Amino acid sequence: MKPLNHTVTEFKESIFSTMTKLAIDHEAINLSQGFPDFDGPQWIIDLAKNAMDQGNKLGYVGKNQYAPSSGILPLREAISKNYKRFYNLDFDPASEIVVTNGATEAIFCACMALINPGDEVIVFEPFYDSYLASLQMAGARVVPVTLKAPNFSFDSEELIAAINPKTKMVILNNPHNPTGKIFSSEEIKSIAELARKFDFYILSDEVYEFLTYETSHTPTACFEDLANRTITISSTGKTFGLTGWKIGWACGPKEIIKAIHNVHQFTTFCVAHPLQVAMAEALNNMDQYLIEFKADYLKKRNTLVKGLKECGFNILNPQGTYFAMALLPEGENDVDYCKRLIVEKKVATIPTSAFYLKSNEGSKMIRFCFAKKDETLKNAIKNLTL
Ligand SMILES: Cc1ncc(COP(=O)(O)O)c(C=O)c1O
Repeated sequence: MKPLNHTVTEFKESIFSTMTKLAIDHEAINLSQGFPDFDGPQWIIDLAKNAMDQGNKLGYVGKNQYAPSSGILPLREAISKNYKRFYNLDFDPASEIVVTNGATEAIFCACMALINPGDEVIVFEPFYDSYLASLQMAGARVVPVTLKAPNFSFDSEELIAAINPKTKMVILNNPHNPTGKIFSSEEIKSIAELARKFDFYILSDEVYEFLTYETSHTPTACFEDLANRTITISSTGKTFGLTGWKIGWACGPKEIIKAIHNVHQFTTFCVAHPLQVAMAEALNNMDQYLIEFKADYLKKRNTLVKGLKECGFNILNPQGTYFAMALLPEGENDVDYCKRLIVEKKVATIPTSAFYLKSNEGSKMIRFCFAKKDETLKNAIKNLTL
């Protein structure tokens, strides 16, 4: 038989699936994969049920049928309104927003839309694993720049050395998974200066935009001159604790969004219609929810960080996201350590070497997820104390 596609056959099972399977086998508390062990708000779920029940009644276009490929207009309008309200950013719902199946599809479509084989793309490592796969499928050469513990800043000389005339794009994830870092204004301004000088795009993955603790989020597109070369990607999975709904989007200049939509149109075409109806309404009514959401997660972060510190972990305090990294004692290796935690302490975490391509920094750290019920976090800490 003739060989299959050589890029995709090289992809390995994601570390999240591997650790989740191990956690199930050993009945361990799962602080590995990044999703909540509780449901999102019932009022949003009810909105989706209601949209499904409406179906084709009363002759309007069925909510159980295909949605417009770019996303239903009320959802694009709600997204646009929130960017204006929260960040004073202008995205035209008609031409500068496309709704995708989660941020993951937006990332894939953006890579396919912008990259020609041989283009180079800089990613800050540790990085969310879909960047590498999407970039490889698009034929890019991936150039990692390492964020260094404990504060996960990058070395500007390393970044400058990574840039050359083939550099097409930099991927920035802010707030950052897995480190919980929030990039400082100075860091983003220094990337902006290079973007102008060397003419590259910025794909800004901001799915944790509402999970910030001591500071508030500033989208990359807000920085001077960056709106015209930035693709802003976000989604509702983390914000509403509904990761299984996979409603995300890409926003940016209309020529870029048109190209991203061209890819989306021929990969999934559209996003689940009734879920879009519910999300449009949720995004229009999120003020009170956000206050409670942020307070809840702040409490979860503090519970986990305090508890782990008391257990003797060297925790690097996260400023955002729902992850916390721990530096392992000298001589330990992340994969072995995580396996031992599952078997001996019945707590599953993520070995962070999986998030690195170049540096071996990851072998010295593990990642905890605190998007979990208070009870789950307390039980995990109890197990780790024993
Ligand atoms: C940095 C980052 N980007 C994107 C995603 C995926 O988002 P979605 O579930 O909306 O596809 C995740 C999920 O863990 C993530 O951590």
